[in-house]
Amino acid sequence: MKILVTGAAGFIGSNLAEKLLKRGDTVVGLDNFNDYYDPAKKRANEARLNAYPAFRMVEDDIRHRQAMFDLFENEKFDAVAHLAAMAGVRNAVKYPDLYVEVDLNGSQHLMDAARATGVGNFVLASTSSVYGNTKQIPFVETDPCDRPLQPYAAAKRAAEILAYTYHYLFQQNITVVRFFTVYGPNGRPDMMAYLVAESAAKGVQIPLYDNGQMWRDWTYVEDITDGVAAAIDRPLGYEIINLGRGEPTLLADFVGYIEELAGRKANVVSKPRLSADFVKNNADISKARRLLGYNPQVSVREGVARFWEWYAANCL
Ligand SMILES: NC(=O)c1ccc[n+]([C@@H]2O[C@H](COP(=O)([O-])OP(=O)(O)OC[C@H]3O[C@@H](n4cnc5c(N)ncnc54)[C@H](O)[C@@H]3O)[C@@H](O)[C@H]2O)c1
Repeated sequence: MKILVTGAAGFIGSNLAEKLLKRGDTVVGLDNFNDYYDPAKKRANEARLNAYPAFRMVEDDIRHRQAMFDLFENEKFDAVAHLAAMAGVRNAVKYPDLYVEVDLNGSQHLMDAARATGVGNFVLASTSSVYGNTKQIPFVETDPCDRPLQPYAAAKRAAEILAYTYHYLFQQNITVVRFFTVYGPNGRPDMMAYLVAESAAKGVQIPLYDNGQMWRDWTYVEDITDGVAAAIDRPLGYEIINLGRGEPTLLADFVGYIEELAGRKANVVSKPRLSADFVKNNADISKARRLLGYNPQVSVREGVARFWEWYAANCL
């Protein structure tokens, strides 16, 4: 298959692209290499992918509507895995317009271009943040998700809803996959796993919200990319599917696992929980198991060990 992976220079996108290349797909990556975090990390991901002859990176922006149409017209993709986004819940509170432009309007350009060129299947990356402070735990896809806590979640939810409209009007196959707190090799430097590693290894001071008394459904990136690859392979009409591990871990414990491996305490400063943050996320993954054959393999202990191994080899 010829697959477009947007956000291919990023954390999950680069891991996904590599998985698809290893199994024999042709992959076109698309990324704008923005500086939300150090673009050198994105260039390193690109370099890793460039080692595969069936890979090519296009440096462009999903906000450029005509450029997206031209790309789709020239390439004739079989499937799209749309992972490009402005991520980061706290940054979204500062720059809501950017999040709507990229995560909603940019996604619309891609859905339009996919429709115009007859792409068979479109996988749209979304987030557990859309559940906000729902009382329905574990989080299940039938939740209305109409009370997002910040513009990132609101824009992602809006894109999910727009995807339904495209499916309804044009019979497009669109599967929305909601990721739960992903961590692992090539991880984002603004996310907790990486921050704690930096702090324990180098003494960098980091905030610890609510004394780590928050629960997160940490999900190892290989499990997530397995789920996305399965979604690419199975056009389902329109579905929303949680991809998590289904076993939340206390943030304080997660921090402790990394400290154990580092052999040092992280340098944390306690901060009150932000209103943009939810207290607990916890995936019900029965739908993913049923529709995608999804079966997460990597325990948090094992995943943290693999993450630390990568961090120690690449970032120290
Ligand atoms: N990491 C997580 O825990 C997590 C959780 C839930 C959902 N997600 C979603 O998964 C996807 C991938 O996230 P990630 O953690 O790999 O983040 P990331 O920031 O590492 O990757 C996103 C990539 O998209 C690119 N991008 C951003 N705006 C763009 C634009 N306008 N045009 C082209 N490229 C653009 C960025 O340069 C980046 O390389 C995102 O859609 C994110 O919302 C991630």
